[in-house]
Amino acid sequence: MDTKSTSEMDHKLLNASWPGKETDKPRGWVAATKERPLRIGIPNRATFVEYVTEDHGTHEIQGYCIDVFNASLRFVPYDVPHRFIPFGDGKSNPSYDELVRMVSEDVFDAAVGDITIITNRTRIADFTQPYAANGLVIVIPNRNSNSGAWVFLKPFTAEMWGVTAAFFLVIGLVIWILEHRINDDFRGPPRRQFITMILFSLSTLFKTNQVDTISTLGRMVMMVWLFVLMVITSSYTASLTSILTIQQLSSPITGMDSLIASNLPIGYQVGSFVGSYLTDSLNIAKSRLVVLESPEDYAEKLSLGPTNGGVAAVVDELPYVKLFLSDRKDFGIVGDMITKNGWGFVFKRGSPLAMDLSTAILRLSESEDLKKIGDKWFCKDGCEAGRHVSDPNQLHLDSFWGLFLLCGSVTLTALIIFLVKTVRQFVRYKKKQRDLMSQYSSATSSTRCAQAVYSFFDFIDEKEEAIKKMFKQYEDPPSIAV
Ligand code: GLY
Repeated sequence: MDTKSTSEMDHKLLNASWPGKETDKPRGWVAATKERPLRIGIPNRATFVEYVTEDHGTHEIQGYCIDVFNASLRFVPYDVPHRFIPFGDGKSNPSYDELVRMVSEDVFDAAVGDITIITNRTRIADFTQPYAANGLVIVIPNRNSNSGAWVFLKPFTAEMWGVTAAFFLVIGLVIWILEHRINDDFRGPPRRQFITMILFSLSTLFKTNQVDTISTLGRMVMMVWLFVLMVITSSYTASLTSILTIQQLSSPITGMDSLIASNLPIGYQVGSFVGSYLTDSLNIAKSRLVVLESPEDYAEKLSLGPTNGGVAAVVDELPYVKLFLSDRKDFGIVGDMITKNGWGFVFKRGSPLAMDLSTAILRLSESEDLKKIGDKWFCKDGCEAGRHVSDPNQLHLDSFWGLFLLCGSVTLTALIIFLVKTVRQFVRYKKKQRDLMSQYSSATSSTRCAQAVYSFFDFIDEKEEAIKKMFKQYEDPPSIAV
C-alpha cells in the first residue's frame, strides 16, 4: 500500500472508541467491571457531614469528598464502575485507621473520604495525591471576645464608670456654686441653671464648653478636671484599641510547646488519627486525652475549661476547625499549624488506580472544578463572606452597633419631643387664631398678620421667637376701633 493510499484511508477512519465510550487508548488494566464494581468504603460520618456521609433519608452517599472523587474520575481514561459502601453506624464517626486497614485487607478495594495521609497508613495502602491540604491546629476558648455591641464599655470596670459619672456631676455642681454669684451664664430660672450645669460638665469631655468660667477658683478646678479627663480619655482609647485589635485568648495554652508542657486535658475528634498522633508522636499521656463526639461537644468542653471537667484545648484538622469556628466567636486558633497533611483516596497496594487518580486530581485542581465543588459545599451563603478571614486590626460594625443604637435612640427621642412640642404649639396657635377671628369682625393691620393661615410646615419653618411674639399679641391684642 503506497503512502498516498494510506493517508486517504486515515482520512476515512474515525477515532477508536474504547469500552466505556473512552477515546483515550486503554492501558491494558481493568480496574473493575460492571459485574464486579469497585467496592469503595466511605466513612459514614455523624459530624461535619459536609465532607462525606450517607443521607439518612435517601441513603445516598454524598459530600465534598464524593464530589471530588466523581469529578476526578472524569479524568481517568477508562470506566471505573464502583459502588460506595458506608463504613460506620452513622451515629459516631468511624475509625479512619480501621477503614484504611480494611482496604489493605481486601474488605474494600478503595476508600474515599476525608482520609488523612499519614505514615502509618501509607505503610499498608496506597494513597493518591492529596486533593485537600490541611494540618492540625489547636483551638482554645476565646473568652474575651473582641466584638459585641457593648464592647465600648469594656475598657472600664463598673466602679470606674460609676466614679467617672459621679465626678462629672460633682464638678458641674462645684463649678455652678463657684460661678453662680458672678457669672450670668450660671444664673436665671432654676431649670435653666440645672441644664447649664449638666451640659457644662459634659461638654468638658469634648472641650466644647459654650460657657466660660470666670472665677479664679472655678478656673483652677477646671484645670485639674481637664487634666484628669485627658488621662482618663487617653487610657480609655488605649484600652479600647487593645481590646478591639488584639486577639485576647484567655488560656495558658499559647501553642504546641505549652500544650505539651501543661498537664491539662486535650480534646480530639472521635475516629480521627489525632489521638494516636498526640500519644505516639508527641508523647502526650493518654490519660490527658478526651474523645469528643461532635462540634457541640467541642464547644461545651472548651467552655467548661480544664478545672470543671472540660478540656483546655482541642486539637483537630483545619477543615473541621474552620467549620466549627464558622458560627462560633468564643473560640479561636492559637499558635501555628502543628503538622502539614493532606486528604487523599486510598487504594490497595499496587493498584494503578492510585496513580491514575493522582493524575486526575492534579488535572482537577488545575481546572476551576475543585474550587467550584468547595464553594458548593462550604459557601452556600455567599463564598466571599463565608471565607473571609477577618483582619484583627479591622474594626467591625459588630463592635459599635451599641453606640450607634444609643446615638440613634437619643436622636429619635429628641426628634419626637421636638415634633410633639411643635404640634402642640401649632394646635394652640390655630385655636387662638380661630378665637380671634370670631371675636373681631373686621381686622386691623396687626390682626391681618395674625389671621394669615399658616400651614404646619410654614409654622415650623418660622423662628420660634416670632411664634412666641405672635402668641403674646393674641393674648394681649391692641385695641381695635369698631
Ligand atoms: N481525617 C480523619 C482521619 O483521617 O483520621
